[in-house]
Amino acid sequence: MRFASIVGARPQFIKIAPVSALLRQHHEEVVIHTGQHYDYMLSAHFFKELSIPEPDYFLECGSGTHGAQTARMLAAIEQVLMKEQVDWVLVYGDTNSTLAAALAATKLHIPIAHVEAGLRSFNRTMPEEVNRIVTDHISDRLFCPTETAHKQLLAEGITQGVSVVGDVMYDTLLHVQPRLADQAHMLLATLGLTPHNYILTTVHRAANTDDAATMQAIAYALNKLEMPVLFPVHPRTKACLHRYHIQWEPFVQLIEPVGYLDMLALQYAAYRILTDSGGIQKEAFLLGVPCVTLREETEWIETVQSGWNILAGSNWQNILNAVARPKPQPPQSNPFGRGDAARRIVQSWQRRGE
Ligand code: UD1
Ligand code: UDP
Repeated sequence: MRFASIVGARPQFIKIAPVSALLRQHHEEVVIHTGQHYDYMLSAHFFKELSIPEPDYFLECGSGTHGAQTARMLAAIEQVLMKEQVDWVLVYGDTNSTLAAALAATKLHIPIAHVEAGLRSFNRTMPEEVNRIVTDHISDRLFCPTETAHKQLLAEGITQGVSVVGDVMYDTLLHVQPRLADQAHMLLATLGLTPHNYILTTVHRAANTDDAATMQAIAYALNKLEMPVLFPVHPRTKACLHRYHIQWEPFVQLIEPVGYLDMLALQYAAYRILTDSGGIQKEAFLLGVPCVTLREETEWIETVQSGWNILAGSNWQNILNAVARPKPQPPQSNPFGRGDAARRIVQSWQRRGE
């Protein structure tokens, strides 16, 4: 069987890593990088750090408005797929790269497998929500990370080709987990921080960064925390912080985006995590660190139901109240599977003798 795996943005590199490693033991794989993310610390670094095979195609589609960016990716991916004659296209998550890849494949009648299918925030103003819905409805094989995602697909009438395999990001996390304590020890010393005595934050959702009042409210809350705050800043956020002239208290430390092991180590040793990232909400849960989500809704609802994640939105008082909440009871179970999602995904083709 010959696969085209199509990725383009940071969280997709973390998702493809375990799947690609196993897929190549049994099948042929062509890796296509759309170039949605292109800064070294958002892209090439992860290929090296996670030993992801070098992309066979780097399409250099870059940034732009949603329509222009998605259109460039669609046209470029189509050219590659027409040449490569693959049996399946594998797509990950919910970015514009996911949508473009799925559209290119379906127009060429190539079956699509969607890793991280069935997630919904029920907020269609969020670009990722539209990407997920369209991708799920044109996919032939849908790999759900959770039971909730599976139920959602059934509710939308998608019943064929669906399986719950667990979350591939958990596979990647387990791979580095034994190294986190040492890495945190080393890294915190260089940052002048002490374990469990700082708050880690990330903000990059358009709904937060593109509205001055919302970003200012979040910054106001961070400035009121009276505890060291470490903030690895996404490039889109960097531009907005500059544009809105946001000033910081001395205990808020802004740094460039960090690599995967470093990010996990920083999460592992944090007192609390404040984020609007999808992946980080899950990682916080898996690492046992209480999370405050800077959004009104989440597609990772299990983290909220267990008490380990609080949806605070961008209201500064809600954010401060959520940070002050005591640590919840340890979760009864892990809704994200057993850390063998990649194996289950790859085995789904072997089971069918394909
Ligand atoms: C994208 C995804 C989002 C995901 C996030 C992960 C969509 C719609 N959004 O958002 O789901 O959570 O990636 O990080 O696909 N930029 C750089 N260097 C880069 C990449 C981007 O400077 O390497 C800047 C550009 O100014 C660009 C902006 O960041 O316009 C936004 O980049 P884009 O890829 O469009 O969206 P993200 O916010 O990164
Ligand atoms: N991440 C990282 N370095 C950073 C910020 C995030 O390695 O500076 C990792 C994070 O640990 C998680 C993934 O990137 O594994 C999440 O990506 P992001 O927040 O960009 O996207 P989302 O998950 O919201 O789509």
